Amino acid sequence: MSQTLELNRRAFLRNAGLTAVAGAVGTGSIAAGAPVAAAPPKPHHGKYDLDTIYNRIGSDCYKWDKQIEKFGRENITVPMGIADMDFKCAPQITQAILRRVEHENYGYIYMPDSYAESIITWNRARYGIEIQPEGLVNANGVNPALLSALRAFSPPSSKVLLLPPTYSAFYSTVKKAGCVAEECPLHYENGEYSIDFEDFERRIDSGVTSFIFCNPQNPTGNCWSLADMQALGEICARKGVVVLSDEIHCDFVNTGHRYTPFSAIPDESIVRNSVTFKSTSKSFNLAATKCAYFFSDNADYIARIKATGHNTAVNSLAVAASEAAYNEAGDWLDEVTAYVDQNMEYAAQFINKRIPHVKFYKPEGTYLAWLDVSELAEKIGAREMAEEANRKLAPGETALEPENMIELYLVENAGVQLNDGFRYGVGGDNRMRMNLATSRHLVSQALENMAVALDRV
Ligand SMILES: Cc1ncc(COP(=O)(O)O)c(C=O)c1O
Repeated sequence: MSQTLELNRRAFLRNAGLTAVAGAVGTGSIAAGAPVAAAPPKPHHGKYDLDTIYNRIGSDCYKWDKQIEKFGRENITVPMGIADMDFKCAPQITQAILRRVEHENYGYIYMPDSYAESIITWNRARYGIEIQPEGLVNANGVNPALLSALRAFSPPSSKVLLLPPTYSAFYSTVKKAGCVAEECPLHYENGEYSIDFEDFERRIDSGVTSFIFCNPQNPTGNCWSLADMQALGEICARKGVVVLSDEIHCDFVNTGHRYTPFSAIPDESIVRNSVTFKSTSKSFNLAATKCAYFFSDNADYIARIKATGHNTAVNSLAVAASEAAYNEAGDWLDEVTAYVDQNMEYAAQFINKRIPHVKFYKPEGTYLAWLDVSELAEKIGAREMAEEANRKLAPGETALEPENMIELYLVENAGVQLNDGFRYGVGGDNRMRMNLATSRHLVSQALENMAVALDRV
């Protein structure tokens, strides 16, 4: 977000000719905590309370507090951007942290075997994959682990292949490694994304050294098939390009779909040419505990990543939390994923009926929906507004994209914050990403607010 937006948002909106739509849901009238506009379709009757809104405001969280700082308290009713969840954490995890905190010393730890065992057992039980303990490495995040891997396999100035639209931080990680992102855009048709394998192979030949794969894919939600992965893996193995498979979203798979681990490909030579990256951070909402892991059957690959000076330290509270998550909180995760799946259904039906300017396709996996807002962009003149605003930028300020204007429009008129699509690379124009891992009351309130605001467009 540019300094202009952060420092002088309202003046900027006036300059750009974008003012809150008269008569739309008033920014003041939809402050968070206001009565819910529409009853959610069905209350959740589970072991865990997912319906009650868990107030995160004031906890320094990026999803709420950062957006409030950026856009003003009066403009943030339901932030649906950053990819974490609003639910209260699994009680098993809180209990484990409390047990650890009872021992009031936080000096250096050596990793207990039980930590690795929790990872190995989880992956075996849930996905039928066998992780060898000697091929398993800790990390303080998937992004730092990917950076270490790029340092191992991709010399500065070489290319790293991505399949956009894809996770925005891949681009910054590639840049941090001194490499260049080579984009092989996904093919899009009728709400479905697929891989253009000919283009993939052509681009691999242009100096690519690693390929970052995302399964399920953020933000498109694709749960890639075995056939897709076999085809990609075969090309990469033949060309000597290492596959870095980011499977952080793997526990979120919607009804009728399936996540297939890259390491489950039957062809051993393909699997040996890959490293898989995972963590409890998405599944159990432990992102700020900073703990992740990666594994490979290829001892040479693991040695090369470790040799970059990769940081394997995981903090003591993260160890307690992550181990409890995998060992004890599986039923919490199952309930959460089913709940999010129903949120997706609810949003699909609501948007298709009530918000004609937005197209919603239920994703196969992840808790993120990838909205097509082309019609809305056209209606509000997002491109023209961005152009107009860019003519007034002060030197050094970042140019604005039409999706910045859509984000602002929705914040100002509906109190709903979404992530702007251009950050996800080619194919991100006219797209916004919506995070549905929250209470259905908030999903309902966000959609009602959007429907009222966009009715006036
Ligand atoms: C695909 C993907 N990889 C990695 C991450 C971040 O992982 P970490 O916080 O462990 O660095 C995210 C977070 O949204 C993600 O979507």
